[in-house]
Amino acid sequence: MSEMPVRIEPISPKDVEDFCAALDSVARERLYLAAFEAPPIEQVRAFVETNLREGNPHVVARGGDRLLGWCDITRHRSPLRAHCGVLGMGVVAGHRGAGIGRALLGAALSAARVAGMLRVELEVRGSNTPAIALYERMGFRHEGRKLAACRFDGTTDDMLIMGLVWPEPGPARVAG
Ligand SMILES: CC(C)(COP(=O)(O)OP(=O)(O)OC[C@H]1O[C@@H](n2cnc3c(N)ncnc32)[C@H](O)[C@@H]1OP(=O)(O)O)[C@@H](O)C(=O)NCCC(=O)NCCS
Repeated sequence: MSEMPVRIEPISPKDVEDFCAALDSVARERLYLAAFEAPPIEQVRAFVETNLREGNPHVVARGGDRLLGWCDITRHRSPLRAHCGVLGMGVVAGHRGAGIGRALLGAALSAARVAGMLRVELEVRGSNTPAIALYERMGFRHEGRKLAACRFDGTTDDMLIMGLVWPEPGPARVAG
């Protein structure tokens, strides 16, 4: 449980190393993310720089001088799917269950709406009960299940597909 005050902030270039370390620590738990370690630091730096340049929501949680979690929403590149973003997030072990994930996700979703996205989608392992509960609570719907799509350490798990769709903004009403 995290006792220190936590700030939710847009990521900045100075956060790259801390973000990479947080990503690596969660990936190495092997239970939650698609990768079992962070990509090389230059790849992580390029990911952050692309998000900043293209206005993709990417927020981090900071407590004291530690980066405790992140949430990013990457816009699809194809014109057909450019209204959609793909979500990734994590909170480092020892700081979960204290509201950081909900705050990160809320901030990233607000930024996605401001950026004009109409849909946010994600994949989550079937055994990841806390993440599924968080996504459901924030309005994501279950859209599908890929059977036995994950295999690690001799265990097989399903991959769930979840999505959040916002209504398209209507035309402005003219008074009178
Ligand atoms: C999923 C994760 C981001 C949630 O962050 P968190 O800071 O622990 O979550 P919060 O404390 O903000 O809780 C928000 C909601 O999540 C759900 N939740 C959190 N922990 C839970 C748990 N252990 N069991 C069930 N639901 C849980 C609840 O709905 C909770 O809302 P509530 O407290 O009003 O009931 C965090 O557990 C995590 O980083 N897990 C490992 C990485 C991961 O799974 N990333 C997502 C991959 S798809």
